[in-house]
Amino acid sequence: APVSDQLAGKHVLVTAGPTHEPIDPVRYIANRSSGKQGYAIAAALARLGATVTLVSGPVALECPPGVDRVFVETALEMAEAVKAALPVDAAVMVAAVADWRTTEVSGEKMKKRGSAPPALRLTENPDILASVAASAKRPKLVVGFAAETEKVIDHAKDKRKRKGADWIVANDVSGDVMGGEVNAVHIISDAGVESLPEMAKDAVAQILAERIADALNPVTEP
Ligand code: C5P
Repeated sequence: APVSDQLAGKHVLVTAGPTHEPIDPVRYIANRSSGKQGYAIAAALARLGATVTLVSGPVALECPPGVDRVFVETALEMAEAVKAALPVDAAVMVAAVADWRTTEVSGEKMKKRGSAPPALRLTENPDILASVAASAKRPKLVVGFAAETEKVIDHAKDKRKRKGADWIVANDVSGDVMGGEVNAVHIISDAGVESLPEMAKDAVAQILAERIADALNPVTEP
């Protein structure tokens, strides 16, 4: 059962994990992503009483209590599942979506013997975050993530504008954040930059869920 009702009656969509873009029946292209931060956010939102739809790429994680999970494999499937989940009050896009997919998927395992290495032809995947932000059913709050290895805050500020997100949560992935248990993030919004110290991914998730509750429940002056 939820531990608070701060997000009772609110529906929040979370994307998490990588997408897998098949090359042939045994090979794929993907970004590195354990799904841990996204799953922790889905869990924290559910603890605050939200209805949570978690659109997840392939990961080896249990579905958090009280969360509705939709498993997808490719970016195109993730885009469809996200569209189907709208309208929602807030969307938090944590997935490490592959930027490209192969133009053709071989029906048979590609053989290496006797032939030159194949040249893969790639095409761009849709930007799911940007589509949600531009949608007629735009959630009141759209949150994106930015994994950067340099000029973290500057790049994240650009990303916020370019994608039409309300907030970008930026993290420096030049260290060993990938697959690890801790994260250090900056929450970038209209109001500026809130930099959090390094902490457990669960703790990052808890703070973010509280910020989301504050944003969806504005305090009204009497
Ligand atoms: O452009 P970049 O991949 O760095 O942007 C990261 C943010 O955009 C994340 O919130 C990610 O979930 C989202 N994204 C997306 N669809 C894509 C690429 C990124 O939703 N095709």
